[in-house]
Amino acid sequence: MKKGFIFDLDGVITDTAKYHYLAWKELARELGIEIDEAFNESLKGIDRLSSLERILRFGGQELAYTEMEKAALAAKKNAQYVELLTDLSPADLLPGIADFLAEAKKQQVPCAIASASKNAPMILEKLGVAANFKAIVDPATLKKGKPDPEIFLKAAEAIGLAPAEAVGFEDAQAGVEALNAAGIMSVGIVRDGNLTATTLNVTDLREISVTELLAY
Ligand code: G6P
Ligand code: MG
Repeated sequence: MKKGFIFDLDGVITDTAKYHYLAWKELARELGIEIDEAFNESLKGIDRLSSLERILRFGGQELAYTEMEKAALAAKKNAQYVELLTDLSPADLLPGIADFLAEAKKQQVPCAIASASKNAPMILEKLGVAANFKAIVDPATLKKGKPDPEIFLKAAEAIGLAPAEAVGFEDAQAGVEALNAAGIMSVGIVRDGNLTATTLNVTDLREISVTELLAY
């Protein structure tokens, strides 16, 4: 029996993954590096600075910038990303999420957010679902990002659950690996592309109910 849910944010609650991509693509282009959607898959779930480092490595520029310059580049990308989120509203919740969260609340099932995004609290406010989460792991407190299990273990602990009692939702392979390493059941949200090593994959949360998942 499961007792609670842990959600990734970008690509699971809302499709901000496309805005991350647009902002990185623009910054990369300014640096003379072209990234495409296939490469972007490898950035999902990866924190801001590590994403920049992957892009620089992809473009053969891993040694071209100092730590301070890299921090400034990451801040520039974030400013662009936040700009793209100006009009984010409850209409941007992915299909099935609003009903699923409402049902979890009705059944008093605790929910937590395990996202590498430092923008998560602001995004949840704009989407109108911040009050549905009992805990949001602060990514600044993490020693290691996904695929390390740390973020999901902290999320489970924050809602008072053992890993075996939780269900995690992810759209990124790094996140699925983190869930598996944490011993938490994984539900993959797969729209395009594919996720492997999940317990089950769905296109969106209209395909599975709170009650069905709690019975696992
Ligand atoms: C999530 C996204 C990544 C993003 C990371 C950090 O994991 O999937 O694409 O780089 O959060 O987000 P932030 O909003 O802090 O730059
Ligand atoms: Mg994601």
